Amino acid sequence: MFRDPHSAAVPEQAKTRHLVLDLTIDMDARVLRGTATWDMEIAEDAEVAIFDTRGLTIHGVKALTSRGALAAPWTLGKDDPILGRALTVDLMPKTKAIEIAYSTSPDAAGLQWLEPSQTAGKSKPFLYSQAQAILARTFIPCQDSPGVRITYAATLRVGGGLEAVMSAIRDAKVTDSAEGRMFTFSQPHPIPSYLIALAVGDLAKRDVGPRSAVWAEPAVLDRASTEFSELERMITVVEGLYGPYAWNRFDVLVLPPSFPFGGMENPMMTFVTPTLLAGDKSLVNVVVHELAHSWSGNLVTNATWNDFWLNEGFTVYLERRAVEALYGVATAERQWTNARRALEATCAGMKNHAWDTYLRLKLEGRDPDDGMTEIAYEKGALFLRRLETEYGRPVFDAFLKRWFADHAFGPVSTDEFIGCVYDHLCGSDPDKLMRLDMNRWIDGAGIPNDAPPAASDVFASVERAAAAFNKSGVVPTDPWSTDEWLRFLDVIEPRNVDDLRALDAACGLSGRGNAEVLARWIETALRHGMNDVVPVAETFLVAVGRRKYLKPIYGALIAAPGIDGKKEARRIYARARPGYHAISRATLDKIVGVAAS
Ligand code: BES
Ligand code: ZN
Repeated sequence: MFRDPHSAAVPEQAKTRHLVLDLTIDMDARVLRGTATWDMEIAEDAEVAIFDTRGLTIHGVKALTSRGALAAPWTLGKDDPILGRALTVDLMPKTKAIEIAYSTSPDAAGLQWLEPSQTAGKSKPFLYSQAQAILARTFIPCQDSPGVRITYAATLRVGGGLEAVMSAIRDAKVTDSAEGRMFTFSQPHPIPSYLIALAVGDLAKRDVGPRSAVWAEPAVLDRASTEFSELERMITVVEGLYGPYAWNRFDVLVLPPSFPFGGMENPMMTFVTPTLLAGDKSLVNVVVHELAHSWSGNLVTNATWNDFWLNEGFTVYLERRAVEALYGVATAERQWTNARRALEATCAGMKNHAWDTYLRLKLEGRDPDDGMTEIAYEKGALFLRRLETEYGRPVFDAFLKRWFADHAFGPVSTDEFIGCVYDHLCGSDPDKLMRLDMNRWIDGAGIPNDAPPAASDVFASVERAAAAFNKSGVVPTDPWSTDEWLRFLDVIEPRNVDDLRALDAACGLSGRGNAEVLARWIETALRHGMNDVVPVAETFLVAVGRRKYLKPIYGALIAAPGIDGKKEARRIYARARPGYHAISRATLDKIVGVAAS
């Protein structure tokens, strides 16, 4: 029987099917308190039901049976820093549901509680959850495995005139009481626990399409709804490629800047970082990516985190196909080409632990967060592009469409994928299968030789400009896109720091509003010894908590030639760390050192 190495649950014995969540949100104490009631599917011979928990206080457990509610014996297992503690509940005869009364800890890793000062409005606190990969168990006792799907209904009670949203449909009726406002939600489609999400704050909503709205703090709403005005067009394009959108609505919530990711594909309510608000829609590919998860990930879900590439590699492939349809081949090719460079760098950096470059990950005994590298994303997407090249677009698109239809609302493993390629793509022809040599991609290191080459001509003007800059410090004057700037900053080898200063003065790089370009500029300037950029870095690092930017900037700072970079990094980290999410802190504590706390 296949086991998810990151969950204690034994779903063949007792499996969760539906959750009724009833929670009071205490913004002052930073605690969620209430009950999670689980409808269960229980095998004849089952004696216990097992849930995952981490840092939860369990107040009591009841078995809801056909004879009424009975107190059920329960135990908490040994604590593991990554997996938490298994909650084992003894089953009574005819148990239908299990009600768990619990409260969360103020430092639950899956919840971030923000001070008013960390929000755009500066006057009200904010809370949001981030459950992927295995943090749902830090705020709900659950079977926290992507192979187990549940529907849910939730009641949230919130004081202070705040709004609440979830990865679900919110009922129009909001009840006001002495305890605050009461919001009710329902998620009618079966989802894995990592897609349960909530956010609470001073939020406003604006419709931008027939099935889409943008949610944000009032001060951000205008900018956000302008940036994301094209949600309906995006949905229609992906539907045209891979079949109908299965989730009724696609709303986007813009979070405060400490959000550790670019985006998170919570069903019906994608969460995004405000660093996407560049003003010119140049970073909306992240929204396209989260939308694409509505097919790859949310509809068809990796069975375990070892199969993470089935979520993210598929989604990057879909994202690029949608970007191509929406914004043209040249834009998509630039993104493929920039990503290829990043993938090569990642593979080079993993030389000494090459098994981490296999598509099929080996995350047993590790934090699944370790699998969140370019491998699942870009090697995964490149493998699908390889298949597209081999069989042609029409055949490969039909294959993907069928993959989503056949596995809708279910889990998929890497072995199942291999089987489907054989059955539905190779025409069961062993010669074709041999030629593909899927093992080299799936259980082999690095980028296989048969990888389709990156387009060589999409950065022609950038490469010319970079050569001129490297040779004689000539600054570029072309009106470049974000992707072109990123390429330029990646490939320049400045003669000296003065050339970099001149570049900054002419192109205003230190003052860029586009976070992607600004972050890359800071990193590049630091690497090449332009230490006058340190104050710019500091401002950025204190304001923004997106891990993808923090990692390279702190890394470049530590290695900065000519200054005590490590000391600077620690000083800045000490200032910035209290504002970072637990996920970003966990990563940076390893890079910069916990001494900073
Ligand atoms: N689902 C991921 C974020 C994630 C992965 C959170 C694993 C926790 C564990 C999301 O879809 C994602 O991939 N976001 C990317 C953006 C994307 C354009 C590559 C990000 O946040 O950078
Ligand atoms: Zn993703």
